[in-house]
Amino acid sequence: MSEVCGIRSGISVQIRRTDGRTHPAIVSSVNTALRSVTVEWFEKGETKGKEIEFDTIFALNANLAPASHQINDSPMEPHKLSRNATKPHLPAHPKNRLTSIKPPQVLPNATNGYTPGTNNSRGVENIPPSGGYNKVPQTNTMPVPPNNEAIANAKSRKRNNVVKEVEKLKKNREERRQRQAEKKEEKEALMNIDPGNPNWQFLAMIREYQTSLDFRPLRGTDVVETHQITVCVRKRPLNRKELGRKEVDVISIPRKDVIVVHEPKNKVDLTKYLENQQFRFDYAFDDTCSNELVYNYTAKPLVQTIFDGGMATCFAYGQTGSGKTHTMGGTFSGKQQDSNKGIYAMVAKDVFKYLNSPQYKPQNLVVSCSFFEIYSGKVFDLLADKAKLRVLEDGKQQVQVVGLTEKVVNSVDEVLTLITAGNSARTSGQTSANSNSSRSHAVFQITLRVPGSHRIHGKFSLIDLAGNERGADTSSANRLTRMEGAEINKSLLALKECIRALGRKGAHLPFRASKLTQVLRDSFIGDNSKICMIAMISPGMSSCEHSLNTLRYADRVKDLLRMNPWMAGPQDLF
Ligand SMILES: Nc1ncnc2c1ncn2[C@@H]1O[C@H](COP(=O)(O)OP(=O)(O)OP(=O)(O)O)[C@@H](O)[C@H]1O
Ligand SMILES: [Mg+2]
Repeated sequence: MSEVCGIRSGISVQIRRTDGRTHPAIVSSVNTALRSVTVEWFEKGETKGKEIEFDTIFALNANLAPASHQINDSPMEPHKLSRNATKPHLPAHPKNRLTSIKPPQVLPNATNGYTPGTNNSRGVENIPPSGGYNKVPQTNTMPVPPNNEAIANAKSRKRNNVVKEVEKLKKNREERRQRQAEKKEEKEALMNIDPGNPNWQFLAMIREYQTSLDFRPLRGTDVVETHQITVCVRKRPLNRKELGRKEVDVISIPRKDVIVVHEPKNKVDLTKYLENQQFRFDYAFDDTCSNELVYNYTAKPLVQTIFDGGMATCFAYGQTGSGKTHTMGGTFSGKQQDSNKGIYAMVAKDVFKYLNSPQYKPQNLVVSCSFFEIYSGKVFDLLADKAKLRVLEDGKQQVQVVGLTEKVVNSVDEVLTLITAGNSARTSGQTSANSNSSRSHAVFQITLRVPGSHRIHGKFSLIDLAGNERGADTSSANRLTRMEGAEINKSLLALKECIRALGRKGAHLPFRASKLTQVLRDSFIGDNSKICMIAMISPGMSSCEHSLNTLRYADRVKDLLRMNPWMAGPQDLF
């Protein structure tokens, strides 16, 4: 155990707290090198402690201080006497030379009830007889204080450590400030990609991700492949409203058949991150693709099918406002639709081209058109003032839409007139998302019949489906809207199952599950039936969840196709 001038573990000393209070505490350890002690005391039910330098202890506990620390102006003691008495034991500090030393006090059972000035036997031992009031220790047992050099070294070491620590802190602070400045600069640069965009962090992350992509989108020169079932995706551009509210485009189409959804996410600690989900389809049309280009890779190859005596069906699937009607019925300028620029019209043009070609002209096939919509499980004739029609099934499972208007047409113009009339008659409701929104499935059919008979040679069905998000909306307060949603949901699920059944030869065809699949039964049977689905995507961040739902739906059909030999191909997208 170290002991300096009577200071040693276990004794009680007076200490001063930072709030000015003075009270006793027990010395728990003595650090000679640093000339300090650790003291402990009990306060408010717990043991507390602190480190105190010898000098402070001496200042408060005059009885422990070596001569040099004794108060030099003790009122009780003549100056001179004191100086003389302590001279042989002068410690290092000359300024304290004049103080007297009281013997170290030993309190074997020291408590906080220490009373300065009470000496025990050991203390007395260390005090030589003296004529003065102060007792000067003279025995050899008096601990020798560390010499000047040691104290100086210890102090200088301590100072060096402190200086080093301060320098380290300064260096860290400067480095931190520099890092913060760099981050701020980086952040400002990123914010400037689209000033004022509240989602600039996601925008920046998407841009960064896109730099790692090798963009090779679909070109009009890419080969048109033929499949029994073709599934593609089309991304429309951000519209004026979306641009106005600075929507972030979360869809990338790096390849002719790959689409990536950059799903914005927040971690629990609110850190933003992207979940980049890749999907692969037969074709992926980006926002620069025209209706014509989409047509060339989707419905156009199917025209041949109907001349070959088969059934062709093309679906536009997607969320409200994603571009189904724009693609199928024709482009909009305001509320005006240009029927000439939709897939319906393009099919009609090609049908007449084939019809007049040397190969098919001799067959004299008769072309007729019908246009109806399915709304809440009911069929309405769009070419006859929306007359309600019945759907019947005969003994041979042949489904008939009783009384459906089927107009024979002899030119593309006649078809366009019918399309325009039908489009304007379509049931449409207003939603905040899209003022041309539709809650019905529209079915436009071009039928080729053998002249002089009622026999169908081939049929092309073009379907503009109701918004798929409506199927998911079961929370609406309005009963009618809920019923509409349930019906849409049912029909879209049935449609998926029927397409899957076509892909799996001989599989059960659940066409009776909805009116839509019932009236399209012919499309899902026969080796010469071909189907094309175009999944439409709105690119905005606010549509992200719906876009993912659309892609997952389309992917279910694709999943199945991947198992088929003709779909064998690399699964790794990049
Ligand atoms: N590829 C595109 N290029 C430019 N504008 C487009 C494109 N696709 C859609 N639009 C525009 O977006 C708006 C919504 O499109 P559209 O009416 O076709 O949506 P929808 O999918 O039919 O929606 P709903 O299910 O509500 O009927 C229209 O104003 C349309 O002109
Ligand atoms: Mg529409």
